[in-house]
Amino acid sequence: MESMIKKYFPEMGIDIFWYSKKLTQNISSENNNLTSLDETIKKCKKCNLHKTRRNTVFGEGDPDSNIMIIGEAPGREEDEVGRPFVGRAGKLLNEFLKSINLNRDSVFIVNTIKCRPPENRDPEASEISACSDYLDQQINIIKPKVLVLLGKIAANRLLGEDMPMSELRLKKFFIDKYDIPIIVFYHPAYILRSPSQKKKVWDDLQYLKGIIDSNVS
Ligand code: URA
Ligand code: SF4
Repeated sequence: MESMIKKYFPEMGIDIFWYSKKLTQNISSENNNLTSLDETIKKCKKCNLHKTRRNTVFGEGDPDSNIMIIGEAPGREEDEVGRPFVGRAGKLLNEFLKSINLNRDSVFIVNTIKCRPPENRDPEASEISACSDYLDQQINIIKPKVLVLLGKIAANRLLGEDMPMSELRLKKFFIDKYDIPIIVFYHPAYILRSPSQKKKVWDDLQYLKGIIDSNVS
């Protein structure tokens, strides 16, 4: 795959960094900046996950980015350091991004929930719903032009669907509260477990590029 990427992207003349940045807009929200929202989340006890977390994992990246990547939930390493995608799945995610000339610092990476579920179990619908206001506020402040959901669980819970990955990927979804396209990628942790599926990620990445291209203003 690496060689395919090296071969084709330069030939296609793709350079993602020329996308125009959005104008910063005033946010009429209680937490009108990311720092104060982070402080609120650090104190949050809205669901039981606060009892077992070591750190909340707010998210990180370029607050002016057009691309927000939404993972499922912090794992052990993320809980330890309070940052998203720092473990093996994170390293693979960085590679995915690099293959389309994006680096981690040029996107904003968050999770559907900000605290680690014990033993890395799947987040419950009630936890995602308890935490969803924070995600909404992050989206409101950052105003990305595309949301990339990683994995079936995050995708189905956020979209209110129950679909297999084959029906979720390579499609644009819209939900009422966000006026931006949502697309679904395989979760990098799944790709680590099933490396034979890597080719599909290549297709997903190209699909993402297409969406970004069509959103250039
Ligand atoms: N997996 C996720 O979904 N999120 C992280 O932050 C790390 C691993
Ligand atoms: Fe609060 Fe979200 Fe953590 Fe639950 S997961 S305690 S809602 S920050």
